[in-house]
Amino acid sequence: MKARLVAALLIGSLAATAAAGDQVDRRAHEDYLLHCMGCHGEQGRGLAGKVPSFPDDLGRLLTSPGGREFIQRVPGVTQSALPSDRLAAVLNWIVRNFTPAGVSERIAPFTAAEVERLRTQTLMEVARERPEL
Ligand code: HEC
Repeated sequence: MKARLVAALLIGSLAATAAAGDQVDRRAHEDYLLHCMGCHGEQGRGLAGKVPSFPDDLGRLLTSPGGREFIQRVPGVTQSALPSDRLAAVLNWIVRNFTPAGVSERIAPFTAAEVERLRTQTLMEVARERPEL
């Protein structure tokens, strides 16, 4: 009896956690569409010569020295109207959805605290500061 109750509670809380995860994911997707897609495109492919393509570049950037900080300091991120927790969720959503297989598993999730700290350090000369790919 007791074991069954524990099992039921466990399943209930796992389901609640999964549902909360789904909600964060859905909101991050919506935030991407509203706040980033205008420039980056629905599939994150950007605009040749103007806006970089996430699927092509982000995996390498994220694993290059300085790349993690760099992507949190570009103006489109630091100047976003989104609060830092939702911005971190959007970055995590982008990494999960627009980088080649295997990348997101190797990257520690972005956190609100990290985004909050780095967004005060906007890069002015992005092209010059972009880490080597
Ligand atoms: C007004 C257009 C615009 C908006 C809106 C925008 N970006 Fe960008 N983003 C750019 C451009 C242009 C670059 C290239 C670097 C630069 O010149 O700032 C860039 C670069 C980036 C990069 C670095 C990619 C690389 O390969 O160097 C990331 C990550 C990024 N943006 C994320 C976001 C996120 C997340 C949002 C939404 C919260 C967003 N951007 C909104 C235009 C935009």
